[in-house]
Amino acid sequence: MEEIKGSTAVVTGGASGIGRAIALALSREGARVVIADLDEEGMAATLSAITSTGGEAAAIRTDVSDAQDVEALADKAWSVFGPVRILCNNAGVGMFGGLETMTLNDWRWIMGVNVWGVIHGLLAFVPRMIEEKKEGHIINTASISGLVPNAYLGAYTTTKYAVVGLSESLRKDMRAYRIGVSVLCPMGVETRIADAERSRPDSLKNPGGPAFTPSLDILGRLLAPEQVADRVISAIKKNELYILTHKESLEPLRRRFTQIEHAVPNE
Ligand SMILES: NC(=O)c1ccc[n+]([C@@H]2O[C@H](COP(=O)([O-])OP(=O)(O)OC[C@H]3O[C@@H](n4cnc5c(N)ncnc54)[C@H](O)[C@@H]3O)[C@@H](O)[C@H]2O)c1
Repeated sequence: MEEIKGSTAVVTGGASGIGRAIALALSREGARVVIADLDEEGMAATLSAITSTGGEAAAIRTDVSDAQDVEALADKAWSVFGPVRILCNNAGVGMFGGLETMTLNDWRWIMGVNVWGVIHGLLAFVPRMIEEKKEGHIINTASISGLVPNAYLGAYTTTKYAVVGLSESLRKDMRAYRIGVSVLCPMGVETRIADAERSRPDSLKNPGGPAFTPSLDILGRLLAPEQVADRVISAIKKNELYILTHKESLEPLRRRFTQIEHAVPNE
């Protein structure tokens, strides 16, 4: 969609990092922004950054892993600012550790936020967006880990591959409705993701706490969230499917696709 000005946008995970930068960038483009997150203090900071520059925004506490919460978010967004035309399913959490060390609580938490969070967003928003019969756009935040695996990030990688597959399919399904779809696949961005445990609910904590923090082989430079948000705005306007943020992504992507290419039989 070329014209962001005057539209209503919802950004999950808008209290921090990439989500906050996307919310601010959308507001600068003239959108009314609904921020949804668990972190009320962080949401208040995003809200005041927007309203202090004359933008319109609302903050709605939402747990994206809870379907009813996300339904309530859609109800409130529509009632506060009218039809939502831009949906950013961005809230996400990360965790380190070999797949052999992942517990049931680890899987439930990361799948609940990173995969079910996006699915809940689709269930609550897409039918209403279609009903509006207007141009719209959905941005799902995956990661370079949705395209290439990193050691010690297997559970995260599993969730982000799901987000990429869902987004690629959704783009095809939404074409008839004039709703564009992008999937955001950054490498390293300077945010609070390394401290994602802060939002893990007590009911899904491990008795021993988080395991360890390894160094990652596929991270790239740490970009500022604002640089990533600029790419998101441009992808909405040009309706681009893939949002890659680092030129360092190319080499690991080539390695993976060369491996796949070599696996294809020539008869
Ligand atoms: N930072 C990076 O290097 C990087 C790289 C690739 C992808 N990503 C992705 O970017 C997205 C945003 O992460 P970030 O890096 O800005 O991290 P961040 O920790 O700074 O922000 C994540 C936000 O999501 C919120 N959140 C967590 N669980 C939630 C839940 N159940 N319901 C609602 N909100 C919840 C947190 O409160 C936080 O405000 C995530 O999907 C992450 O996987 C980050």
